[in-house]
Amino acid sequence: MYRPELEHQQLDENRQGEALVGYEIISSVPKRYFYIESYGCAMNFSDSEIVASILNQEGMVSTRELIQADLILINTCSIREKAEETVRKRLTDFKHLKKEKPDLIVGVLGCMAERLKAKFIEEEKLVDIVVGPDAYRDLPNLLSKVDYGEKGVNVFLSREETYADIAPLRLDSNGVSAFISIMRGCDNMCSFCVVPYTRGRERSRSAFTIIAEAEDLFQKGYREVTLLGQNVDSYKWLNPEGDQIINFAELLEMVALVNPLLRIRFSTSHPKDITDEVLYTIAKYPNICKYIHLPIQSGSSRILSLMNRTYDREWYMNRVQAIYQIIPDCAISSDIITGFCSETESDHKETLSAIEWAKYTMSYMFYYSERPGTPAAKKLTDDVPLELKKSRLSQIIELQRDVSFQLNQLDIGKTFEVLIEGDSKRSDKMFKGRNSQNKIIIFEKKPNYYSGNYVNVKVTSATSATLSGEII
Ligand code: 5AD
Ligand code: SF4
Repeated sequence: MYRPELEHQQLDENRQGEALVGYEIISSVPKRYFYIESYGCAMNFSDSEIVASILNQEGMVSTRELIQADLILINTCSIREKAEETVRKRLTDFKHLKKEKPDLIVGVLGCMAERLKAKFIEEEKLVDIVVGPDAYRDLPNLLSKVDYGEKGVNVFLSREETYADIAPLRLDSNGVSAFISIMRGCDNMCSFCVVPYTRGRERSRSAFTIIAEAEDLFQKGYREVTLLGQNVDSYKWLNPEGDQIINFAELLEMVALVNPLLRIRFSTSHPKDITDEVLYTIAKYPNICKYIHLPIQSGSSRILSLMNRTYDREWYMNRVQAIYQIIPDCAISSDIITGFCSETESDHKETLSAIEWAKYTMSYMFYYSERPGTPAAKKLTDDVPLELKKSRLSQIIELQRDVSFQLNQLDIGKTFEVLIEGDSKRSDKMFKGRNSQNKIIIFEKKPNYYSGNYVNVKVTSATSATLSGEII
């Protein structure tokens, strides 16, 4: 490649070590650094790794130092109003950086970019580019627009894009566990949810590229992959020959066969779609973790119908029974929304009883936040007062804490195979790992044990959030 900045050096024949001088100058061509911050779900973190890979291909280098960045990207979430407020606040932090470094480019990615589109640029003057979840390949082009003094917006939603061919650049990795995106978008029309509008139609990624990514991760020393999708149970991929459809159970089996030492997790399952075939596959392979995240959202059939979840309480309970019957040592967790439109005290009580009945090891719990443009915003009234939403949420959180505590107490004295993920936050004398059921276990280090090793740990005590134990 012709580099004018080298020309006079290379033509100076009196200088010794000319080639070396040339090389030094090549490597000192200023690098452009990018910094990415992600909010929201695991899918967003996984997308940021795709974005990092695209930028890397352009010769840009990832940095964890904001001050070093020439490009700051913020991968945003729209799921609740609070998530959007967090992003707005974070953007104000970048204002002074841009004052100090006028060439600094600020870009907004993800669901909030998709929802607000060019409006983002009008509302937030410091934003230079707005890129929706299906337009990340266009980033280099949008960046060059900014170099020419324009703003860049691409929020095109695709029916095909899966980024199947892009090898993610692992960011903030512990070197042990990684996400693999297996599908994008969502075709379920839950009335409260903004995702179908921000991430578009559901499409599944090629099974071959998923397996190749899992194999590559295993070879690089990773020991756990989490297969990600809004609704993994509806994964469906037709091979290019058009003669074989691979469903989620089959995909799980294919990934499990990559290596028995590679643990497989997946998220999120939908109660209407999770099949017995999936459950039998989980039961069959010791390296498929015995843990299912199965959001109930509400325990009341009336509310579930208003939420358009397309299952009722009985259907959900039947699925939970099937899980415990086919995989007796399985842990189940949930997402719960409290204070949805018209929720009464008796609906709320049904949610409380479902938590106890289903024996969730943990739940992500939220109060309802109306999202513009969703069916609930259009057709239902957000009529539960905020204070009541909050007090119901506190009751739910408290009950879940009790249930988690009781379940964790039952683990005391049991021995689990634990994958070591790294040092515990509390002390570098302790390791942190997880058992198959996704419970975090803290235990004292011993010589010759490292991150990525499997160890047997006997549980000696437990809180509602963590198990403690010792290597045996
Ligand atoms: N308000 C509150 N919680 C929501 N979720 C999705 N949309 C909303 C909303 N409008 C929750 C659901 C979902 C999780 C990712 O976020 O529980 O499963
Ligand atoms: Fe993820 Fe949903 Fe938030 Fe989008 S809106 S980042 S899909 S949680």
